[in-house]
Amino acid sequence: DAVVGFRAQLLKWYDKEKRELPWRTLAISESDVNIRTYAVWVSEIMLQQTQVATVIDYYNKWMKKWPTVQKLAAATLEEVNQMWAGLGYYSRGKRLHEGAQKVVSELKGRMPQTVDSLLKELPGVGRYTAAAVGSIALGQVTGAVDGNVIRVLCRIKAIGADSTSHAVTEALWSLANMLVDPERPGDFNQAMMELGAQVCTPKAPLCSRCPVQSHCHSYHKVHVRQEQISKKL
Ligand code: ADE
Repeated sequence: DAVVGFRAQLLKWYDKEKRELPWRTLAISESDVNIRTYAVWVSEIMLQQTQVATVIDYYNKWMKKWPTVQKLAAATLEEVNQMWAGLGYYSRGKRLHEGAQKVVSELKGRMPQTVDSLLKELPGVGRYTAAAVGSIALGQVTGAVDGNVIRVLCRIKAIGADSTSHAVTEALWSLANMLVDPERPGDFNQAMMELGAQVCTPKAPLCSRCPVQSHCHSYHKVHVRQEQISKKL
């Protein structure tokens, strides 16, 4: 059906066009689930308020210095702040450090392994970040709705209403949960983000290159309207 086609078209595009980002490589190659979860958690916190291009270097340096949650827990806050210098919003680094210490002292060094426990146990991890880590690192089947994904979904469904309203937010999460590919939830969510970053951009989206153009209500509206205009002329 339509949802199956949407997933297939999006993932086929992602497999071809995705950027090789260090946390993506790691999430695929790392067999230790604890390290994988830690690594994706670090990447998602860094990406919360900072662009991908800036995060890459910081992420690589961080993972080299603290490759495990135990290593991070043993660091000092001064070291963490030093490492964070230039990324902004320093409370994010502090929360990572606090979270690591909590994992080591209260959770026997084991990273939470479900979306609900990530949300509950880790400071600075909200609904989106828990869903992103759960799907990317743990293969949990959940949608993940961030700013990029909000824009993509609103365009696909031609939602003109205020996307920050509670009702629209809930509708977008339901939609994301229906759309997510049960076989590849982490790739699906990252494909939605990638689509928002590379194709379905805020200004002047590149609809001609969109893998899910045929599913997009906004595209259809504009396209059909333009055809009608050109017929009259
Ligand atoms: N923004 C937030 N998480 C991301 C990810 N995993 N890949 C690319 N951009 C992102």
